[in-house]
Amino acid sequence: MLTRTDEKARGLADLPPVMNDSLIALIGMVEADPRADKIDVGVGVFRDGAGNTPILKVIKEAEQRLHDTQVTKAYLGSAGDVRFAELLRPILLGPHANDDRIVGVQTPGGCGALRLGFELLASANPNGRVFVGGPTWPNHPPIIRAVGLAQVDYPYYERGQGAIRFEDMIEALNSAEPGDVALLHGCCHNPTGADLNEDQWCEVVHLVRERGLVPLIDIAYQGFGRGLDEDAFGVRAMLDAYDEVIVAQSCDKNFSVYRDRVGSLWIKSGSPATSAKAMAHVYKIAREMWSMPPDHGAASVHIVLDDPELRERWLVELKGMRDRINSVRQRIAAADPRLAFIGRQFGMFSMLPLSPEQVLKLRADHAIYMAESGRFNVVGMGDGQIDRFTAAVVEAMDA
Ligand SMILES: Cc1ncc(COP(=O)(O)O)c(C=O)c1O
Repeated sequence: MLTRTDEKARGLADLPPVMNDSLIALIGMVEADPRADKIDVGVGVFRDGAGNTPILKVIKEAEQRLHDTQVTKAYLGSAGDVRFAELLRPILLGPHANDDRIVGVQTPGGCGALRLGFELLASANPNGRVFVGGPTWPNHPPIIRAVGLAQVDYPYYERGQGAIRFEDMIEALNSAEPGDVALLHGCCHNPTGADLNEDQWCEVVHLVRERGLVPLIDIAYQGFGRGLDEDAFGVRAMLDAYDEVIVAQSCDKNFSVYRDRVGSLWIKSGSPATSAKAMAHVYKIAREMWSMPPDHGAASVHIVLDDPELRERWLVELKGMRDRINSVRQRIAAADPRLAFIGRQFGMFSMLPLSPEQVLKLRADHAIYMAESGRFNVVGMGDGQIDRFTAAVVEAMDA
């Protein structure tokens, strides 16, 4: 065999430059701004009235118990913490908790669940296309790209009116072929805050079933919208009607354990045997990526959910976070009729009717930081900052 002498080995220096993730860049800009009264509504974590992201009291207590009682850090195995997944079942699945065609596994956060779910779908049907309503969470498209599936975009949201473009959504899903994937936000849509209502969910469920699509529901904020059961309406309606459902779930927000990376992936198929086979693929794929999920965060959530008293207190702390989100929404909505739609939306995010220029002016003039799309975290600011924020936004809209 001839040796090629004209080809130079490529090394790390040959890598192309990487486009900066704009939300990560925004965090750096906030840090670098010396103004004491700066407002950071760019980052996607819950903050309380004082502007902090505290560790939940029940998690602190669970971590103490874990510290006192854990006797080994030997590997957990591919399935991760099996009891953790068992305890999550009724919270996510409700009346479907005892359906043995539904299997779940611990994952490193909601991102891990999404990656694993899409990898599984790509293994099963590499030609399937993923239908994605825009705008969506900016990490969805790269994950879909990473697994090699094609993405079909459709418009989900009418920004100026704060309304869902439901007819466009239905038309797009109607054009999908059997085996194509419908990516759906379970609740608290990120970045728009615009959730499907119950009638709309039922119509989407019907359509998915009629057309033989595979729904992948991303539910990262259960309990931040209307309540734990209410926020799972779409997941459960899909499970009511359909045999093939994938759910990517995150506990990072509703247990406030963001950096501990806690999530789970759920698969429903037509039979326990098919679900077990799919889960064997999931373990194999996970083994190739992170081998086994990390323990600490899921172990803490497990302790909370396994203790009736801690569990009750978690529900109270979760309600506290939800109530703050919804009361800040009402305050912003009351500031101007053009912001009224924010009071009808759910979860931490909404999109302000601002141009990128107006967003940049808010940064320059008022030290208010949000994504250039106008997406902002309604609980990114402390209580003492809300009036200044709304006044500046109204001024920017009027300019
Ligand atoms: C819509 C959506 N899905 C998934 C995730 C991922 O969650 P996690 O931090 O648990 O990986 C997020 C996080 O921001 C999200 O907003």
